Amino acid sequence: MSIGIDIGSKTIKIVELAKEGQGYALKASGVVGYTGVSPDKFVDDKEAIALAEVIKKLHKEARISGNEVNVSLPEQLVFTRTIKFPLLTDQEIAQAVKWEAEQYIPIPINEAIVQHQIIEKRENASPPEVVVLLVAAPKEIVEKYIKVLQMAGLNPVGVETELMALSRALAPVNATSLILDFGARSTDIAIAKKGQLVFSRSIPTAGDAFTRAVAQSLGVEYQRAEEYKKAYGMAGGQLEGKIKIALDPIFRMVIDEVKKAIHFYQTEEKGEMPSSIILSGGTSGMPEAISLFTQNINIETVLGNPFARIAMDPQVAKTLAAYAPLYSIAVGLALRGE
Ligand SMILES: Nc1ncnc2c1ncn2[C@@H]1O[C@H](COP(=O)(O)OP(=O)(O)OP(=O)(O)O)[C@@H](O)[C@H]1O
Ligand SMILES: [Mg+2]
Repeated sequence: MSIGIDIGSKTIKIVELAKEGQGYALKASGVVGYTGVSPDKFVDDKEAIALAEVIKKLHKEARISGNEVNVSLPEQLVFTRTIKFPLLTDQEIAQAVKWEAEQYIPIPINEAIVQHQIIEKRENASPPEVVVLLVAAPKEIVEKYIKVLQMAGLNPVGVETELMALSRALAPVNATSLILDFGARSTDIAIAKKGQLVFSRSIPTAGDAFTRAVAQSLGVEYQRAEEYKKAYGMAGGQLEGKIKIALDPIFRMVIDEVKKAIHFYQTEEKGEMPSSIILSGGTSGMPEAISLFTQNINIETVLGNPFARIAMDPQVAKTLAAYAPLYSIAVGLALRGE
């Protein structure tokens, strides 16, 4: 059994998978809304206790059988970049990362947890090189996530960034794609090549910003604005087009950021144009969002389905279909393995 838990700023998702032959089967899943403080913003134990209670209840009600969990860290809190080394052995690269990481990351090395992944060996380049993905997270924040899970009676066995998990769940194995997690607090953008994360970026503009824009521009309460946003989104036509007009500047910011990411990847990393855009996260359900991505960026955009490769009871599949985009990160975490 392997379990993934994604602690978002608005919802918490949990997924349990079991290895079945070459693939995986869904054992249990659950999602719950959360209005409290996120672990990185904890100032006292009261907030941690409150979140631990919510997690404990979710674990129980979703009927998750195991206690060992893989958890993700919000992309905003981690530092990710690719670096190039000459063609060294894997062991030599591990050493080089250890000694040289400090010069690449903005946090003091003794306050950071650093991981690396070899993403490409370019043996035919001149000179030959190895591309390495370097990920660094402040120890203090990782410890907060670990502590709240332990308080919920769980045993954290793996930690990675949201976009690493997302790529595992959604990236096509034989193409370059752009994967976007459209959440509440942040929009995270990944480019994955042959299933491997090669570029990541996070902006603090997502569902919450959309709701606030509607609230402000129509002069309504947050809750009402949330309802309008979900019902009409970018469709226009309703309320004299006022909702779309309110949402539009925020939507443009996200589109521009996606264009910038593609441009950066093509120019700085000499990467190829992604052949598709895959959306996930709650905000990907916003009416007309998908078609506007396709139109504005000129790359076919689809809604990601993290359960596409997971075996499950057809009845469960039916119930889960509408929520699938919420579960991408949790599924990716559970796919890390037993
Ligand atoms: N149908 C819909 N249309 C528009 N927005 C939606 C819809 N359904 C959910 N949302 C928005 O999705 C967001 C929640 O998505 P999600 O659960 O992915 O966020 P999160 O993981 O908690 O946030 P983050 O990862 O940014 O901390 C909320 O802002 C909510 O308003
Ligand atoms: Mg999220």
